[in-house]
Amino acid sequence: MSQHQPVALITGAAQRIGATISRSLHQAGYRVLIHYRSSGEPARLLAAELNQLRPDSATVLQADLDDMNQLPTLTDQALSTFGQLDLLVNNASSFYPTPVQQSTQQQWDQLVNSNLRAAYFLSAGLADSLRQQQGAIINLVDIHAQRGLKGYPIYSIAKAGLQMMTMSLAKELAPQIRVNGVSPGAILWPEADAALSETEKATLLEKVPLGRTGTAEDIARTVLFLAQSPYISGQIISVDGGRSLFS
Ligand SMILES: NC(=O)c1ccc[n+]([C@@H]2O[C@H](COP(=O)([O-])OP(=O)(O)OC[C@H]3O[C@@H](n4cnc5c(N)ncnc54)[C@H](OP(=O)(O)O)[C@@H]3O)[C@@H](O)[C@H]2O)c1
Repeated sequence: MSQHQPVALITGAAQRIGATISRSLHQAGYRVLIHYRSSGEPARLLAAELNQLRPDSATVLQADLDDMNQLPTLTDQALSTFGQLDLLVNNASSFYPTPVQQSTQQQWDQLVNSNLRAAYFLSAGLADSLRQQQGAIINLVDIHAQRGLKGYPIYSIAKAGLQMMTMSLAKELAPQIRVNGVSPGAILWPEADAALSETEKATLLEKVPLGRTGTAEDIARTVLFLAQSPYISGQIISVDGGRSLFS
């Protein structure tokens, strides 16, 4: 039974790319644990949509990944819900500019904790269970982990750490657990405080050989590919319309 219905925990999965990854994994036969922090309503609607398609195949789990005290509860709930875990997708992220001389320790903590520290300790806390299932971890990195996104040094530093975490844990957790990453380019524009002007968007797209943004489905397809590729570990695939060909 478990072979046919693997279980995936997707962090930050209520909306946008995380929700699309959840739908895609669910369509491929996974039971999904939809983690959220503050987006309770969209998370519950997504779980209801998926349970309508296949009963008892989706549930929601709430935790603020900035708070280390909440991680053990999240891992316990993740393991007890369906009794196994086959895939962890570290997708949750905070993202906003931090000009160097105005940046604060609070920003550092928030950006590093959500993008890196939580991914590391969730991976560590879930490793025993993933090992039992010959499971996998997939990290949502960013093409700017390699060169840095101007105006966003702390975010870039955190994602660079996530890139190294992907490679390090691929060594540390082998041979039972594979660890890979997906590095999106311009997929969904940031919202709220981090929103870009139309001019800024056009300038960014000038450097994308394919001349357009990607879609959340492009990312989800690559996550699924890595989840289903038993001889790939320690790799990070850029899904960026060719953007990383340029500096
Ligand atoms: N969008 C892009 O074009 C793009 C480009 C490069 C890389 N990426 C990466 O791809 C992934 C998905 O991107 P996205 O744009 O869909 O992400 P997003 O909307 O910016 O964030 C996803 C979710 O992360 C959750 N989150 C943030 N801080 C959290 C915390 N402290 N604890 C728990 N959850 C927290 C939020 O959940 P709640 O809403 O529930 O609070 C949010 O909905 C991210 O890792 C991102 O860095 C995206």
